[in-house]
Amino acid sequence: MTPDPPSDRPDEGPPNSARARTLAARARRALGDPRAAVNLRWLRAVSGASVESILAVLGELDDLRPVEEEIHRRHVAGGRANYAHFSAPFELYTFVRLLRPEHVVETGVSSGVSSAHLLLALEKNRAGTLHSVDRPTPQRGAVLAPDESPVAIPPGLASGWAVPFRSARWDLRIGDSAIEVPRLASELPGIGLFLHDDLHTADRLALELAAVGPKLLPGAIVLADNTSQTGAAFPTFAQSVGARVYRRGTSDLVGARLPRHRRAATPAALSPGP
Ligand SMILES: C[S@@+](CC[C@H](N)C(=O)[O-])C[C@H]1O[C@@H](n2cnc3c(N)ncnc32)[C@H](O)[C@@H]1O
Repeated sequence: MTPDPPSDRPDEGPPNSARARTLAARARRALGDPRAAVNLRWLRAVSGASVESILAVLGELDDLRPVEEEIHRRHVAGGRANYAHFSAPFELYTFVRLLRPEHVVETGVSSGVSSAHLLLALEKNRAGTLHSVDRPTPQRGAVLAPDESPVAIPPGLASGWAVPFRSARWDLRIGDSAIEVPRLASELPGIGLFLHDDLHTADRLALELAAVGPKLLPGAIVLADNTSQTGAAFPTFAQSVGARVYRRGTSDLVGARLPRHRRAATPAALSPGP
């Protein structure tokens, strides 16, 4: 994997850098998730955008604060502050604002942190649709038992239960990603951003990437979380489409941007070697 590019020290950034960082920190505190600190280097590497354009988007994060506070309130009311949700929601927002994709596909919704931020950006763009796939994991009782997954949904709630707004831009599909992702890919004309955050196995990630690969547009962004559990699936895919893989800091969340001129990622190109 390609390491992050050289550090841009805050004191070397443009004048609005400090303000953007302050707003990002405030939004993170409102969400109540210390992991959600914005990684500017990763944003730059994956998006290929200029620092100035990224900082301009980060300048919008103050507008998101009421939503962040409400997501946090719902999480706590649901029983805990963290549902193993996506750790880079503000980067998701920024990618969508920069890329302005017509179709975004994500797998794994749970309480809906990633969905909410993708939708907020699409709403701000006034364009595009988020297609989410989730097979929810039900929590057995009012309190999460020690043997249950932190992604489990408290009784009486549904996938995306902490998203505090409605959006006509949300196409939420409940089902197994092995069925729903190929179905979605066959329906969509092109995909501008794909996020994998559901079943973290090599086979499942490879299946999802093989399904969406032929529909990914030139310059599309592809993200996958928990890649320490998915072996070579992501780097193999990235290599097949000529994209570099960037890791977010020391985490196993990775991203890649397809070249502007790319060869198609055919299922054959993704199938394991002998
Ligand atoms: C890590 S959580 C997703 C977190 C979400 N992205 C967020 O930011 O809040 C993983 C979700 O994928 C769901 N899931 C697990 N296996 C799945 C499958 N085979 N198909 C679809 N969804 C699945 C889980 O039930 C859970 O809701």
